[in-house]
Amino acid sequence: MTTPMNDEFAIVASGLDHVFIADDGKKTDAVKDVSFSVRRGEFFTILGPSGCGKSTLLRILAGMIEPTKGSVKFPAGHEPQNISMVFQSFALFPWLTVYKNVEFGLTMREVPKHDQKRLTEEHIKEMGLEGFEQSYPKDLSGGMKQRVGIARALAISPNILLMDEPFSALDAFTAENLRKDMLSLWLRDTITIIMVTHLIDEAIEMSDRVLIMTPRPGKVEIVLPVQLDRPRNKRSKEFFELADSIARYVKI
Ligand SMILES: Nc1ncnc2c1ncn2[C@@H]1O[C@H](COP(=O)(O)OP(=O)(O)OP(=O)(O)O)[C@@H](O)[C@H]1O
Ligand SMILES: [Mg+2]
Repeated sequence: MTTPMNDEFAIVASGLDHVFIADDGKKTDAVKDVSFSVRRGEFFTILGPSGCGKSTLLRILAGMIEPTKGSVKFPAGHEPQNISMVFQSFALFPWLTVYKNVEFGLTMREVPKHDQKRLTEEHIKEMGLEGFEQSYPKDLSGGMKQRVGIARALAISPNILLMDEPFSALDAFTAENLRKDMLSLWLRDTITIIMVTHLIDEAIEMSDRVLIMTPRPGKVEIVLPVQLDRPRNKRSKEFFELADSIARYVKI
């Protein structure tokens, strides 16, 4: 299945395969014939069991690894200036302060100095990290660490934000707060978000569409729309019904 390329889309993945080859020659089929497209401004979720190839898929989209087969394309004239990634394990630089962590991508891209300062300060404020600019990651709570990870990813003004299980290392209360903050941010800015999760409720709460992957090698089981009004009521009958029907597609 190939999606015709047009302006409506932010990213089109076609026929992606990925095979890892270990030093001893052992092959692992991680991702198999994955095709899908994400609309511009869409909140798109990739849901699947552990080890099914979700992170591999996200890394392919980010250009961090080359697929063994297939392609990732962007519509002409809408190539993303920047694609950012938020990691499950935060992946902060422990030797850098909060300020320097957030500033990192801007320095790498040689953004003019005064813009670096403005953008860094803006995103530190947006993520509620004011007062912690000179702290090091080891002195922050998990929730604050992920806020730094998100501020760092957003500072470079990405048109596509990739998030790999961004809330799964946080306690339930912190995760819920951060989900809400991410949703308001997404509703305010025109940004395409592709998020990996293994939680059905999280997928329904946040996304416009959910791609469900099969167990490894990860293929596309189905892509389902989430047509519930926002903000979504996690206790509503419609929410439970959708969670049930999604659960039927998730194979462990
Ligand atoms: N660098 C690598 N070298 C070899 N095999 C790898 C590598 N990275 C991942 N794999 C294998 O590819 C498969 C898919 O891994 P991946 O990390 O993409 O899964 P995942 O769906 O993100 O899992 P989880 O939900 O546990 O994060 C797994 O079997 C994993 O062992
Ligand atoms: Mg993963």
